[in-house]
Amino acid sequence: MEKPRVVVSVATSVDGRVSLRRDRPLMTTDDGKVWETLRPPSSAAVEEARTALLDRLYSPTATLEGSGSMVPPSAGPLIGLPPAGSDDVYDDFLAVEAERWFTVVDGRGRVRWTMKEAGGQHLLVLVSHATPAAYLAYLRREGISYLVAGTQRVDLGAALRRMRSRLGVTCVVSSGGGGLNGALLRAGLVDEIQLIVLPAAIGGNGPGVFDGPALADGEFPTRLRLLSSNTETDGTLWLRYEVTRSR
Ligand SMILES: NC(=O)c1ccc[n+]([C@@H]2O[C@H](COP(=O)([O-])OP(=O)(O)OC[C@H]3O[C@@H](n4cnc5c(N)ncnc54)[C@H](OP(=O)(O)O)[C@@H]3O)[C@@H](O)[C@H]2O)c1
Repeated sequence: MEKPRVVVSVATSVDGRVSLRRDRPLMTTDDGKVWETLRPPSSAAVEEARTALLDRLYSPTATLEGSGSMVPPSAGPLIGLPPAGSDDVYDDFLAVEAERWFTVVDGRGRVRWTMKEAGGQHLLVLVSHATPAAYLAYLRREGISYLVAGTQRVDLGAALRRMRSRLGVTCVVSSGGGGLNGALLRAGLVDEIQLIVLPAAIGGNGPGVFDGPALADGEFPTRLRLLSSNTETDGTLWLRYEVTRSR
């Protein structure tokens, strides 16, 4: 089975940072408020145009995030959960039949969920055979859908193919941080990159657009072809690239 098209879509500073610092996610801390101040007024309209274009071109029915957007790097697996019962929790679990999915990679079982549906998107967690059974039992009790792919951690390629075969997803928009997008890039799973570049430089060693291990000897950078570029007078850039695959 083919994988869905994968479009990486993030906002970045001119130095390629997607967050202010590595130890604090934007979503759950005041860093998010500071990040908002970096957005020129045009950025909201540019984001809307980007979403409309993606809808028109690919009709994506799933977004993808990593657990790093929800919890800090220091967070470990949830503790104090009741042990799993007799169910085979390592089978895929689909609690709803949904048309749109908010998908999150959480192979270590670190996120305690406070919602399972928002804006018509249903929560779908990607886990592996190494995810604690108690966490999978917790997801089942909460009625939260999950797919199991991979032995030591989530096998992103297999998980994406399963999203296509089981859920009919033909395009996934990854709006994750550098850890997730870097892993997708290294695995050769990225087809297109959409960047909204904000007129700010952050410096330091916060998460970048693509993080992860350095290129190994014999590995090459991913070559891109520019599809379009839009410049707003207040400083927002919108860049679209496709991965060319040729090395
Ligand atoms: N500016 C933006 O548009 C934007 C968008 C999103 C996020 N952010 C910011 O970026 C930061 C989060 O970035 P991050 O890099 O810390 O977190 P992240 O991108 O969420 O990366 C960590 C996630 O990726 C998974 N992962 C990493 N390598 C993998 C591999 N080889 N195979 C399978 N799964 C893999 C991890 O899996 P495990 O489950 O195994 O841990 C974890 O779920 C936050 O500060 C957030 O606010 C900014």
